[in-house]
Amino acid sequence: CSQNQLAVLEGLVLDEMTSWYQTAVGLIPTMGGLHQGHLSLIERARQENSTVIVSIFVNPLQFAPNEDYERYPRTLELDRQLCEQAGVDAIFAPTPEEMGIAEKSIKESRFTQVIPPSAMISGLCGRSRLGHFQGVATIVTKLLNLVQPDRAYFGQKDGQQLAIIKRLVADLNLPVDIVACPTRREPSGLALSSRNQYLTAKEKEQAAVLYRGLQQAEAAFKVGVRNSSKLIAVVQQEVAMVNSVSVEYIELIDPTTLMFLEKVEGEGMLAIAARLGSTRLIDNIILRDR
Ligand code: PAJ
Repeated sequence: CSQNQLAVLEGLVLDEMTSWYQTAVGLIPTMGGLHQGHLSLIERARQENSTVIVSIFVNPLQFAPNEDYERYPRTLELDRQLCEQAGVDAIFAPTPEEMGIAEKSIKESRFTQVIPPSAMISGLCGRSRLGHFQGVATIVTKLLNLVQPDRAYFGQKDGQQLAIIKRLVADLNLPVDIVACPTRREPSGLALSSRNQYLTAKEKEQAAVLYRGLQQAEAAFKVGVRNSSKLIAVVQQEVAMVNSVSVEYIELIDPTTLMFLEKVEGEGMLAIAARLGSTRLIDNIILRDR
């Protein structure tokens, strides 16, 4: 029988030694169109893992038929350069066929899907995006099983998605740590998003009203406002200043369970979705008692 080779670490300096045994793999699942928000997840993963893998897959399962699947930015060469500069070790960019979800199998529903708790997928973005979170949960499960990372990195920007993925990983006992990362913004406050590429310079200015509304609610929270309807009204009032932005929802929810809150006790997530022309925008902030 063959014997394992014993590693002799004598004489190694400390960081060489830690890099010898730190073999953790970090995965950043994305749909490409990479921007500074994605890069902040990569940066965090770089600090915590010896191998960093970025997946790029525009997932057909999470787009409804009336949504922007065809038009979604596909910029693989640019994404490749950004990943290279950021010290990513590998990009995993499968085709729908390789993922077993070619158009035919989707139409005929010939594959297993992962269904998160209905209480978590029916509200907020789930109300207007039927099947979206089921599509996200299914693809993330597949990506985690294929790559088998120690850690996977997700943005707080998609707060409902983050909560659902944490729940999924806990419920299905997936051996991975989910790491939540803060939302990266433009200087105007607009949350970075691949979909911002659809906006003109003027629309980007208008879109910054979402975060301004959330910030005003945060200011109210800091001086003692806890009541959900009051906090929501503050956001509503600010966003109403920009005619071209039409609100889909503004809600106060528990960031872990996504249940509606009547008031903030400890922690709440104030979340907004709105339309600007044909572009759908989302944002949120966490309100927390210190
Ligand atoms: P995508 O929109 O490409 O986002 C990939 C990851 O980047 C998500 O975890 C998202 O929350 C994070 N992210 C996006 N904008 C961010 C910002 N401004 N600041 C910080 N993080 C940000 O989310 C998806 O793709 C897909 O649903 C996916 C999870 C890949 C499944 O298909």
